[in-house]
Amino acid sequence: MKILLLASSAREHAIASALSRSRHKPEIIALCTSLNPGIRALSTEQVVMDIMNFEQVAEIAKRTKPDFAIVGPDDPIGGGAADMLAALGIPSVAPKKNLARIESRKSFARDILKKYEIHASPKFKVFSRDVNSIGALMEEKKSLFNYLDQYLHGEYVVKYDALKGGKGVKVSGEHLATIEDGVDYAIDCLNECGRVVIEEKLTGVEFSLLSFVSGTQVVDMPAVQDHKRAFDGDTGPNTGGMGTYTDANHSLPFLTTNDLALAKDLNRRVAAALLEECNEPYRGILYGGFMAVRDGIRIIEFNARFGDPEALNILPLLSSDFVDICLAIIHGELRENLVSFEKKATVCKYITPRSYPTAKEEKGQIVTFPELRKDVRIFYGDIAQDDDGSLRLGGSRTAGIVGIGDSIAEAERIAEEACEGVRGPVRFRRDIGTQKLIAKRSEMMQALRGH
Ligand SMILES: Nc1ncnc2c1ncn2[C@@H]1O[C@H](COP(=O)(O)OP(=O)(O)O)[C@@H](O)[C@H]1O
Ligand SMILES: [Mg+2]
Repeated sequence: MKILLLASSAREHAIASALSRSRHKPEIIALCTSLNPGIRALSTEQVVMDIMNFEQVAEIAKRTKPDFAIVGPDDPIGGGAADMLAALGIPSVAPKKNLARIESRKSFARDILKKYEIHASPKFKVFSRDVNSIGALMEEKKSLFNYLDQYLHGEYVVKYDALKGGKGVKVSGEHLATIEDGVDYAIDCLNECGRVVIEEKLTGVEFSLLSFVSGTQVVDMPAVQDHKRAFDGDTGPNTGGMGTYTDANHSLPFLTTNDLALAKDLNRRVAAALLEECNEPYRGILYGGFMAVRDGIRIIEFNARFGDPEALNILPLLSSDFVDICLAIIHGELRENLVSFEKKATVCKYITPRSYPTAKEEKGQIVTFPELRKDVRIFYGDIAQDDDGSLRLGGSRTAGIVGIGDSIAEAERIAEEACEGVRGPVRFRRDIGTQKLIAKRSEMMQALRGH
């Protein structure tokens, strides 16, 4: 069994690690944007390359003849890596380009939800540039202003309509101060994409539910909560994600049974809508990003892949064979009994350079990790390895450290202790997974729902 893995981060280290536990003992050929010591240790061949260079990916695929491919990051999925590989006769655990628009085009996602009557969106409107009419630009500005002001009363979100490495969304009161700022950013988006999505700004608590999907066969993973802000107490700039947790019951402490059931149903309805819309089954990971709000849950976005760090929490708990799941996704034979997760809680804390995400001052400096207990996992991200084995910081997130325990509190203590043992000019968020932070989320939900 040979598997081609397109990789850019610790997410794919977690994927490679789950693959390597399989009874199929697969050979992994990893195509990576940078040398990843974790993936290297698990693969038979690691090629450092631009994974958006599909000609080169195709050459390697033809030479190595993998049984299938797993495409980890959003850019190659959105760019059609699965289509290119399919043309060579290689199936992928990743949706084709058309289907991946559920992530890569936020307007497509909102329009599909509307068309298939999946009523879980905030109020929204897609603005498209009308290039044909005279005076259109003045009209455009006026209608944007009116929508933000009259319809959304200044509580708005502006979404860039293409992949932008998690930096395309701007929220009023956080990134944009006034309605004029919102209009200006929307016009920037229109200039670049020809379209922009404007949404009502929701209040609530965010969570993610990832599912394995093959057409209308959908099997869920444990729900996860991510922490995007750089510093403790959810302060500071947004990052790629500073950490995540899951609970032993595979729900989250602030969610009701109904909230989780609604999220599961939404992932199923979206998979079915995509099949109908694109006339082709979605085969891969469908990541629903939700917000629990006053009267239920709303969809924030969908991703067409594993999240980083979400994959770092989820995959270590997978107790069934990941290769079997991949084969079932590819062949349309996905069933609940192929997928089982340990009933354990996890807390992932990302170790990052001290000046991340604003600067890269510590790049190239040495970092060392402690001896790990058996209930700790470490997944390498932006980190380089010298010939003598020593590890050096890159500029981005260094490594995700995952504690596994019977409760979130226990998993948190385990992760925290391991993070404490890391030496170098690094930092991590101490508050992720703590009872105090989780109580804050639950209090917010209680305040919103009035009980
Ligand atoms: N309608 C909304 N109301 C409130 N906050 C939102 C809304 N849409 C997005 N956000 C916030 O912006 C973040 C990024 O938006 P998202 O749609 O997930 O785009 P991306 O992950 O591609 O940057 C979300 O995690 C959420 O915190
Ligand atoms: Mg998001």
